[in-house]
Amino acid sequence: MNNRAGGGDIHALRRPVGQPALRAGGCQVRLAERAAFHRQARGPIREGLGTAGERGLNVLLTGASGFIGRNVASALAAAGHRLKPASRRHGIDYCRMQAEADWLPHLAGVDAVINSVGIIGESGSQRFELLHRTAPSALFRACSQAGIRRVLQISALGADASAFSAYHLSKRAADDCLRSLDLDWFVLRPSLIYGRGGKSADLFMRLATLPLIPVIGDGQQALQPVHISDVVATVLQSLTTSTTRQTLDVVGNEAITFADWLQSMRQAQGLPRAAMFHIPLPLALALARLGRHFSPLLQPENLRMLQAGCRADVQPLTRFLGRMPLTVETRLFFSDLVPTGRP
Ligand SMILES: NC(=O)c1ccc[n+]([C@@H]2O[C@H](COP(=O)([O-])OP(=O)(O)OC[C@H]3O[C@@H](n4cnc5c(N)ncnc54)[C@H](OP(=O)(O)O)[C@@H]3O)[C@@H](O)[C@H]2O)c1
Repeated sequence: MNNRAGGGDIHALRRPVGQPALRAGGCQVRLAERAAFHRQARGPIREGLGTAGERGLNVLLTGASGFIGRNVASALAAAGHRLKPASRRHGIDYCRMQAEADWLPHLAGVDAVINSVGIIGESGSQRFELLHRTAPSALFRACSQAGIRRVLQISALGADASAFSAYHLSKRAADDCLRSLDLDWFVLRPSLIYGRGGKSADLFMRLATLPLIPVIGDGQQALQPVHISDVVATVLQSLTTSTTRQTLDVVGNEAITFADWLQSMRQAQGLPRAAMFHIPLPLALALARLGRHFSPLLQPENLRMLQAGCRADVQPLTRFLGRMPLTVETRLFFSDLVPTGRP
């Protein structure tokens, strides 16, 4: 834990894990610039689209009411695409969308599909197997059958060969299904996403307000948070680029320890640094077994994923976007879509 940082610059709070920090050069972020973001979002949408780009796309977006979905929806609309939102409030419950035939009626007139449904913990009928694997796999196969070529899957960082949790394994199963199909697919694997309204980020924000900050063990677990703007930019680019069939880790441009992440969230809320309360992993897991009854986020397996840490090479995303992803700044914690330069 880096204790040298004073109150000012958030960058002074962090100790990058391993790799040197990359800065998103010249990125100016002001909430009032939302209109400018929307103007910029039009750029990559047109790129590589040809006639489809001129008329916009009909996009079926599942999870449209979620954190990612809401932000993707507003950027899609701003870019001139037509949105067909799908979530339970639109009558589409993944628990009941388990076969291709369930999806086919919803795919008429659709040009592209984005799957952004997911849960971080199981409760009631909300099971990883149903929501992360069987329903999306049925959707992807239905797209293949219906001739919808462009399909984007919002997966998660860590849904790879190293996966051990039911969360990651179920995500990876659907990713594998999509990658096996003859489609113009994208599997996007975001790390922890921050920005206004994100559930995980909100939980960490609340945790950071405690007078003693609880961390697992030494609190040095590596995170590589990515701002919602960069996730949305990646989605928009994936929708229209001609270089398809890509699995992309959507990560921020530097790693940060969990302890420093919480300290930076304190700073974002105008609070001074706080002392750490180090909880041994076995005790943290026992507490999580109780905590899961209050929040699906507080699952022992989620703590194990946090403990394992998760980071990835930022270069593939940087090449894909044609710029570096945003650098963490306190003002970004409470913002959603912000101008990101190009694209
Ligand atoms: N946020 C992150 O930090 C992060 C990081 C990496 C990966 N991801 C992945 O990105 C995806 C979206 O995350 P998010 O942060 O946007 O999550 P979120 O805010 O919790 O939104 C989840 C979405 O899934 C929908 N949903 C939940 N259960 C459903 C069901 N049975 N049938 C149909 N829709 C259902 C919800 O719709 P209703 O509840 O309105 O029906 C909502 O639109 C998830 O797969 C998540 O694993 C997120």
